Amino acid sequence: MGRSSHITLRREIDREALRERMAEDVREGLGSNPKTLKPKYFYDARGSRLFEEITRLPEYYQTRTERKLLRRVAEDLVRDVGPEALVEYGSGDAGKTVVLLDAMRDAGLLRGYAPIDVSPEPVRKVADEFADRYPEMRVEGVIADFETPVDLPFGELPRLVCFLGSTIGNMNVEQGREFLTGVAEQLTPADGFLVGFDLVKERTRLEAAYNDSQGVTAEFNRNVLRVLNRELDAEFDVDAFTHLAFWNQSEGRIEMHLVTSEPLCVSIDALDMTICMEEGESIRTELSYKYTRERVERLLEGTGLALERWATDADDLFALGLLRREG
Ligand SMILES: C[S@@+](CC[C@H](N)C(=O)[O-])C[C@H]1O[C@@H](n2cnc3c(N)ncnc32)[C@H](O)[C@@H]1O
Repeated sequence: MGRSSHITLRREIDREALRERMAEDVREGLGSNPKTLKPKYFYDARGSRLFEEITRLPEYYQTRTERKLLRRVAEDLVRDVGPEALVEYGSGDAGKTVVLLDAMRDAGLLRGYAPIDVSPEPVRKVADEFADRYPEMRVEGVIADFETPVDLPFGELPRLVCFLGSTIGNMNVEQGREFLTGVAEQLTPADGFLVGFDLVKERTRLEAAYNDSQGVTAEFNRNVLRVLNRELDAEFDVDAFTHLAFWNQSEGRIEMHLVTSEPLCVSIDALDMTICMEEGESIRTELSYKYTRERVERLLEGTGLALERWATDADDLFALGLLRREG
């Protein structure tokens, strides 16, 4: 049987629908005070590649710590949950996912994998690579925006659903609860849901992770303006914006902004809109909430999910939480 017979790709949102959603979000976000943009718009093909580069930076402790944790817990997790399919939200390059897939294969369980991402390029790439690497499984790639509920594949099998990289941190409590409630509604009692949480820690370490010395995060941040220029015929002078990332202690989150170095007005032709900014004014492009175990337990309240297991590294940098449907 050829490899392609193992792969299906489902496109829940096409480029035109995404552009329409982007138009609405950008009109609202840049029309508000303070100005904001949603982080999902970083991730065109270039943004996804830049994020992969970020994950390899020395300052970005998150990826290597989560990978180590996965290596530590994978075997036990697979034994306890017994998953035959892995379903992954915000899969990106799925660099760490192989740790889970290897453990499922070694236990003789692996039958399916579903990467879900709004960015089509990594979904296609991962689907191809993993179909080669694990010929015994079916791959169902889903190109979708998980801001609205996504039909999760492999409902007929016990699944490990995962959401790694602390992408959940990009949601505030209200958005996080809505997302988690939507996931809970689709889980069966046999499924486990593994979520990666970046933990609260000292300011210097947090701020360094978002202000790397090579400027990759700054380029990733500015990429959202390139996306708006291309998709919405905007005329941002990308170089007129400076990257700013800092720890907001009272809110418990890293904030990323793009700050203007001069007063400017920018037209966004597809929206028939012009925005003007003063010197030093910023657009907030990402929030990244950091957690404690208590904060995670509070986040889960009313979502229909309960924390069954919690694993952290020796330095308390990052945590993996195994969630199960309640009742
Ligand atoms: C922080 S990266 C994490 C990537 C990978 N899971 C990791 O741990 O390195 C977030 C990923 O989620 C995807 N993403 C962000 N917002 C999304 C949305 N609303 N719907 C679907 N995918 C989204 C991005 O395209 C990106 O691949």
